[in-house]
Amino acid sequence: MIKLRINGRELETDAEPDTPLLWIVRDGAGLTGSKFGCGIGMCGACTVHVNGSAIRSCITPISDLEGVEITTIEGLDPAGEHPVQKAWRDLQVPQCGYCQSGQIMQAASVLKDNPDITDEQIDAMMSGNLCRCMTYARIRAAVRQAADTMKGGR
Ligand code: FES
Ligand code: FES
Repeated sequence: MIKLRINGRELETDAEPDTPLLWIVRDGAGLTGSKFGCGIGMCGACTVHVNGSAIRSCITPISDLEGVEITTIEGLDPAGEHPVQKAWRDLQVPQCGYCQSGQIMQAASVLKDNPDITDEQIDAMMSGNLCRCMTYARIRAAVRQAADTMKGGR
């Protein structure tokens, strides 16, 4: 058995140690906000946090994750009031929505440590999270807004 801690809750699983975390998040814990896109670490739709840092859950085996804190979009701020989530709503970022939890988790992770960020840095930090609906301009604007909010709160 492997013991995981997801959004503050313990979850024990008898899945194979090389099972990707995304499978356990979605099918084991029933947290379906994290999406399966490419399955090879290339699109970012499956992004979650491990001890606050963004990782790709589709390529991260659960055997690497005992004793760490895993956070999914559902646990980022259960009330949905994280500055990144608020900016996403204010600027109506999503189109189909499929990529968006990964986008938000990526942005939240980077801004936590560095809200004092340039537009070029925003583009660089978000460039690995793909959006087939091409919402990139709104993503950049929302990250900017969230960064300014978080910077002001320091
Ligand atoms: S589904 Fe994980 S990076 Fe694409
Ligand atoms: S909003 Fe549709 S894939 Fe990004």
